Amino acid sequence: MQVITEPREMQAIAEKLRLNRQLLGVVMTMGALHEGHLSLVKLAQKTAGIVIMTIFVNPRQFAPNEDLDRYPRPFEQDVALARAAGVDYLFAPEAGSIYPENFQTTLQCGALAERFDGEHRPGHFNGVATVVTKLLNITKPHLAVFGQKDAQQLAIIRRMVEDLNMEVTILEAPIVREESGLAVSSRNIYLSSEEHNSATVLYRSICHAEKRISEGENNLQAIAEEIAEMIQLTPGCRTEYACFVDEKTFEREVTAEKGKEYRLLLAVYAGNVRLIDNAKFLT
Ligand code: PAF
Repeated sequence: MQVITEPREMQAIAEKLRLNRQLLGVVMTMGALHEGHLSLVKLAQKTAGIVIMTIFVNPRQFAPNEDLDRYPRPFEQDVALARAAGVDYLFAPEAGSIYPENFQTTLQCGALAERFDGEHRPGHFNGVATVVTKLLNITKPHLAVFGQKDAQQLAIIRRMVEDLNMEVTILEAPIVREESGLAVSSRNIYLSSEEHNSATVLYRSICHAEKRISEGENNLQAIAEEIAEMIQLTPGCRTEYACFVDEKTFEREVTAEKGKEYRLLLAVYAGNVRLIDNAKFLT
């Protein structure tokens, strides 16, 4: 595995690989690699001949009050994990080479980016869209894999790729869960063992929704309220949002129609740790 830090060098390598008719797949990460990221690599490897991983803690997607400085950066460990997973190229630039002094052009996402995480993390998705575009331009992949765990991010990236006629195929990888049901996340390491226990309420909420929908309940608002109550009763937990959206538009939905797909979106604080999770339902 080759480690590259300079955008120009990465572009030159990607261009050469493309000319040699290699199919390139990219997995973008902010490091602190875990099983979830490795599952994205596996999915990329199923189709792509060459897998490029990027590790870049993107300052532009952190709001001023967020944990940019505290974000874990176990680089040596990440390099070892990426190598063991069979990644071919690791692109790990410095912030200064992605955002040099005169940098000023950014992407502005639409309405989809203003709801849910967008409402609670102002500027977050514009920062994600900007860096994802830059990383696509630098790594020149045929396909890019993103995790369903960040469902809104995935929907925004799909929208952007379509809106801007970007020539890349987006693949999505299912959420990886611990045995407790808690979705694997880089932020889980911040959880104390009590908070970790409490945090399983996210998965229990998904199971509750599954049960209620399979019983024929079509009042999504009522299910969301039951979930908010479950969360409120869990020690140290507080709901930021718990609601159902239309799977296609990400518009909030209160009543389910038969045969349509909905997604339950959850953002919950366990202590000071903000966790998100989601699941798709066919009614
Ligand atoms: O999902 C992430 O880890 C980040 O938002 C991404 C896509 C790597 C952009 O910084």
